[in-house]
Amino acid sequence: MHVLVLGAAAGGGYPQWNCNCSLCLGYRTGSITASSRTQSSIAISSDGERWLLCNASPDIRSQLAANPELHPRRIPRDSGISGVVLMDAQIDHVTGLLSLREGCPFDVWCTPNVHQDLSSGFPLFPMLAHWGGLNWQAIDIDKGRQETSFEIPACPGLLITAVALTSNAPPYSPRRGSPTPGDNIGLLIEDRARQTRLFYAPGLGQLDDRVRGFLRQADCVLVDGTVWHDDELSRAGVGTSTGTDMGHLALSGPGGLLEELSALPQATRRVLIHINNTNPILNEHSPERASLDAAGIEVAFDGMRLEI
Ligand code: MLT
Ligand code: MN
Ligand code: ZN
Repeated sequence: MHVLVLGAAAGGGYPQWNCNCSLCLGYRTGSITASSRTQSSIAISSDGERWLLCNASPDIRSQLAANPELHPRRIPRDSGISGVVLMDAQIDHVTGLLSLREGCPFDVWCTPNVHQDLSSGFPLFPMLAHWGGLNWQAIDIDKGRQETSFEIPACPGLLITAVALTSNAPPYSPRRGSPTPGDNIGLLIEDRARQTRLFYAPGLGQLDDRVRGFLRQADCVLVDGTVWHDDELSRAGVGTSTGTDMGHLALSGPGGLLEELSALPQATRRVLIHINNTNPILNEHSPERASLDAAGIEVAFDGMRLEI
């Protein structure tokens, strides 16, 4: 399976337009070694022709321009994107649908909770009905069902298992602060011909044995690298929300994601995505980044390509 990392940053991107934290400032002044990153999204394909877009970032226009595989190639109006699947209803993962309006109608896979938030608090589905609409394809996850597998005929060769995750619904959701199955999912994606698997989860607030079981099945995990410290925004003087508040498990510390990743089978490729602009791993010469290098954990960047 081919994976294009279209954007590797969390909401706001890196550097964030209004942020003067040492990492955003250091990027602008050139005093640190770091690459800018757009808001998180990936595209996956088995055949290199038909791509499944996982999340639609507000930065999608520049992301599509930067990835020739996704350009129109066959008919006058065309795209390499054959389907869209949403992990949640957050601004950084869905706003790009507005920029795809010229291609409506197209199919969007998401859970009933996400569809509900995108029909009310952030009404993308009713809005885009004026451009030909989005065809909602339900991912059957709710209180009664934590996992479901499906195929997308327009993206052949991929078997997708959606996995309910505990993270957080967006601020405009009635479920904000009360995580409910279907607010956030991860995907275990299997390339049927190659028999390889990717686990993708840009929003992972908690792990339990059920979710660990999916991580362990993957040849490569591409997971939530939002914050290093849970209280990193207040340490940087740029906010009061913690990683826990936002539904992102911090990387460091006891019970942190790094500890979880170190327990995976040796051969698993480990890559972090959805990196917040306050996370010290963005500085390529930071001690935090050195500790990832030592543990064999990679940090996704815009334009990264994974072959799994
Ligand atoms: C989140 O995952 O919590 C988001 O990045 C927040 C946002 O997009 O504002
Ligand atoms: Mn986000
Ligand atoms: Zn910043």
